[in-house]
Amino acid sequence: MTTVTAAAAAPSFIDAIRARAARRRRRIVFPETADVRVRTAVEFLAREGIVEPIVLLDPEAPETHGNVEALGVETIDPLRDTRRARTIADLLERRARKGLSEESAAAFASNPLFFADGLVRRGDADGCVAGCVYTTGDVLRAALWLVGTAPGVQTVSSAFYMVALPFRGDAGEVLTFTDCAVIPYPTADQLADIALAAAADRRRIVGDEPCLAMLSFSTAGSAGGPSVDLVRNALEIVRAKAPTLLVDGELQGDAALIPAVGNRKAPRSPVAGRANVLVFPSLDAGNIAYKLVERIARAAAIGPIVQGLARPCSDLSRGASADDIVNVAAITALQAGDDATTELEPSGRT
Ligand code: ACO
Repeated sequence: MTTVTAAAAAPSFIDAIRARAARRRRRIVFPETADVRVRTAVEFLAREGIVEPIVLLDPEAPETHGNVEALGVETIDPLRDTRRARTIADLLERRARKGLSEESAAAFASNPLFFADGLVRRGDADGCVAGCVYTTGDVLRAALWLVGTAPGVQTVSSAFYMVALPFRGDAGEVLTFTDCAVIPYPTADQLADIALAAAADRRRIVGDEPCLAMLSFSTAGSAGGPSVDLVRNALEIVRAKAPTLLVDGELQGDAALIPAVGNRKAPRSPVAGRANVLVFPSLDAGNIAYKLVERIARAAAIGPIVQGLARPCSDLSRGASADDIVNVAAITALQAGDDATTELEPSGRT
């Protein structure tokens, strides 16, 4: 589902992401190599040294194997590789109690998407990029089954990185909007998970310190109601789990973003007027907001970026261009933590 729209409006951010990814050179696996857009992106990524691509042969598309092998990068045939048996075992370990049979596990392990996430699980790849052929549901399910959620987070969600024109100073800014694509009606625990995952990814992807506003139609008690209580409860959970994180709420959008309004409405807030991560109380709010900011304020919307996984498994738009795939691969490389060479705990959550 990831699309990079109006990327032309955000060349410096995109260039910075590619350059920072190149310094890490993470191993990113691409299961959808039957698609020419993926092969074009892989060729570029390898040539420019942005990531170290690993490509899988698609058993359903033998006519493309020659083209894939000609890319000259690490190539794996899921049907012949010994790690297929390991992926079957991993799938059974995590899903047999949910009714997954040995026969189904064997079929899933032959599927390039599940095989790819098996490599990510075991640290043989640092992240996976898929979704220009598979659906969002396929990509998320494979990641939930084999990779699971990050420590301290139980919810997989998403964020958009909005590259905005100057609105509170002379410079354009990158704002994180979350969640805009996955959890329709978050509970307080889920909203807290969304905030924590967005903060962690902000540090990795943008490289600055997150300053989180838990958004509402109320600022610091100016109004009340069930949705305001939800935001306040989520804030308490976030503060308990991450005491040093710069986060405040509940805040209205203008109080969160504009210093003069923040000073007036929430003068004691360390976040008001300075927020760079906006945590929306519902998917309706987040999804509507990112589209309005994209269209009316002409911001470039980069995402949705899947967040909250133990290792990054990114989801592409089925309309993605080769250039979009390059950018998502670079973001995936930045999302990969420093422990990427180790295997995940077998007890990791699904
Ligand atoms: N975070 C953490 N765990 C989750 C999540 C989540 N977001 N969603 C499901 N799970 C859990 C399930 O509860 C289940 O746990 P269990 O095995 O302990 O019971 C496990 O992950 C796997 O569940 P499945 O039964 O395999 O999958 P499920 O039917 O729950 O579907 C899925 C999960 C695939 C993520 C589904 O919700 C989905 O298809 N989402 C896609 C939504 C979508 O298409 N969004 C596109 C928006 S694009 C745009 O807006 C720009």
